[in-house]
Amino acid sequence: MGLPEVLLDALDSGVAVNRDGVETPLQANVTLADAQRLYDLVRARRPEVTIELGFAEGTSALAIAQALEDNGYGTHHVVDPFENSYFEGVGLTSLNRAGLRNPGGVPRGLRRGSRSVVTAYFLRVH
Ligand SMILES: C[S@@+](CC[C@H](N)C(=O)[O-])C[C@H]1O[C@@H](n2cnc3c(N)ncnc32)[C@H](O)[C@@H]1O
Repeated sequence: MGLPEVLLDALDSGVAVNRDGVETPLQANVTLADAQRLYDLVRARRPEVTIELGFAEGTSALAIAQALEDNGYGTHHVVDPFENSYFEGVGLTSLNRAGLRNPGGVPRGLRRGSRSVVTAYFLRVH
């Protein structure tokens, strides 16, 4: 329960890990207070579905998805055309490290168990 260690560590150190396991500076302008507010909101409202346009390094997503996980249900959908390019996969890597991403992005209803998941969609950039 509470904000995940992966998020607390990244906000504290200003460092995240990219898809190759290499440390990279965290660019997020989301503060610990912002993340806590998001977490508390999702815990209080208990939504089944949340959607985030602009995933970046997954800072907000870590707070939202952990709150869904602690609620016991819910799916967080994220979209960002630059996740795998500019952001070097930091967001999905962080969610994987925190155990908050459903491998393969299979919708929750198709999986066993009640764990919340993050599904990720990446728009094609032209
Ligand atoms: C301020 S950042 C988002 C911060 C993020 N929510 C967080 O928690 O750190 C804005 C994001 O919008 C993304 N973005 C830009 N154009 C977009 C589009 N057409 N659709 C979705 N996301 C987009 C950028 O790649 C960037 O990651």
